[in-house]
Amino acid sequence: MASWQSDNPHLRGAFAPVSEEVEEADLEVIAGQIPPELCGAYMRNGPNPQFAPISYTYPLEGDGMVHAVYFSEGRARYKNRYVRTRAFEIERAAGRAVFGGIMSPVPIDPKLLSPSDDPENLFKEGAFIGLVHHDQRLFALGEVEPAYEMTMELETVGKWTAGTTEPVQVGAHTRLHPGSQELFALAYDLVSPQVSVHCIDANANLKRTFQVTLPAPSMIHDFVLTNQYLVLVIGPAVWDFQAAMQGGEMLQWRPELGTHIGVVPLDGGPETWIEADPFFVFHFANGFERGSKIIVDFVEHERLNVGTALEPHQPPHLQRMMIDPQARTVARERLVDDAVEFPRINDHFVGRENRFIYVPTLTDTLLAETPPSASFNCLIRVDTETGTHLRHDFGNRFAGEAVFIGRESGEDEGYLATFLDDQEAGTTDLALLDAADIEADPVALIRMPQRVPQGLHGIWVPDSK
Ligand SMILES: [Fe+2]
Repeated sequence: MASWQSDNPHLRGAFAPVSEEVEEADLEVIAGQIPPELCGAYMRNGPNPQFAPISYTYPLEGDGMVHAVYFSEGRARYKNRYVRTRAFEIERAAGRAVFGGIMSPVPIDPKLLSPSDDPENLFKEGAFIGLVHHDQRLFALGEVEPAYEMTMELETVGKWTAGTTEPVQVGAHTRLHPGSQELFALAYDLVSPQVSVHCIDANANLKRTFQVTLPAPSMIHDFVLTNQYLVLVIGPAVWDFQAAMQGGEMLQWRPELGTHIGVVPLDGGPETWIEADPFFVFHFANGFERGSKIIVDFVEHERLNVGTALEPHQPPHLQRMMIDPQARTVARERLVDDAVEFPRINDHFVGRENRFIYVPTLTDTLLAETPPSASFNCLIRVDTETGTHLRHDFGNRFAGEAVFIGRESGEDEGYLATFLDDQEAGTTDLALLDAADIEADPVALIRMPQRVPQGLHGIWVPDSK
């Protein structure tokens, strides 16, 4: 446990940070067995403030901590490490939190900065949202900030420059192009409506950057990339730096602006923008082309809701959007009635036509009184072809995003990995489910040497990569 406590629901219970950085060589398997062919690492990032924060808005602030489980020859070992961003080191030297967050920036005492730090930069780099592995290199990602390179043993290397002379701003999610295998990343701006789209080659060098102009400076957490298109769904979540400087809200929900769906050809052709009623998207499951149409599967939020002061709203649902760029139309239909978030697919199918989506939901077998947002205890396997949903309810244990670990070439031939946090017992297990038989008992339950808090996004890195 951390040495401090908070009343913030996203810093208590299953979300309470841990401060120990530990290693355990041979983890106990408490049910089933580790498939002997599993060779690689499951890694998961999440916000884990090292000090009681000055402000905390989930899931937009914090220090990154990566928890990793390494598999080899039927055995597993564990390691966790903070992402040692510059802001983390400044706060560690100070012995307390000195930054505000992206939602509530505060001036930093110049005495705490070194000559190479930018005193104008009020925003804390946390690199706490996601991870990406590209060109045999591991990167931790934040909302919009430099990506931090880490070793596979979770030592922080530093800010990633992508072969340039400066750190490159990268958003929370990246997408691999299904054909060229180039990595695409977005960097939006908190002041300007310009979004930079970075294309990163197979050697992790920045190949080109182009600009897309939005109706207003907007929050873009994720996007879709198909063979020919970048697809942006811009909800009216607008950054207002001026308002924040005068005590107002930094990130504002302005439904009168509506949601703008942008289809941006990767060959530089004319963009198509289609307006819709206001809604917000944090995460896309996938997007792909089918003939002249674009199919996008995503979690639709009625509005942007962050932190704990939530406005009344409908729970988020898994939706399918069919975009016809020529006719400039968008049709949306619901895929699952349950409230869900953090959808994932077999990563091999990103940008290509896929059938299965794995997504967590919350059921009443979780006995927590008022679980905060992003609390889950059940995984659903959605078959978009037949419309069937199969589930695995973990009961009174918190679960998270399911990361797909491929075994064979079939889309659902593999395992789903998620941490299970048992608040009653004070233990965390890594669960491996058979993705094709999600209702069956877990393939393995592996006991972690310490509690692993609820986090955000994970990846699987096979040893051969
Ligand atoms: Fe995310």
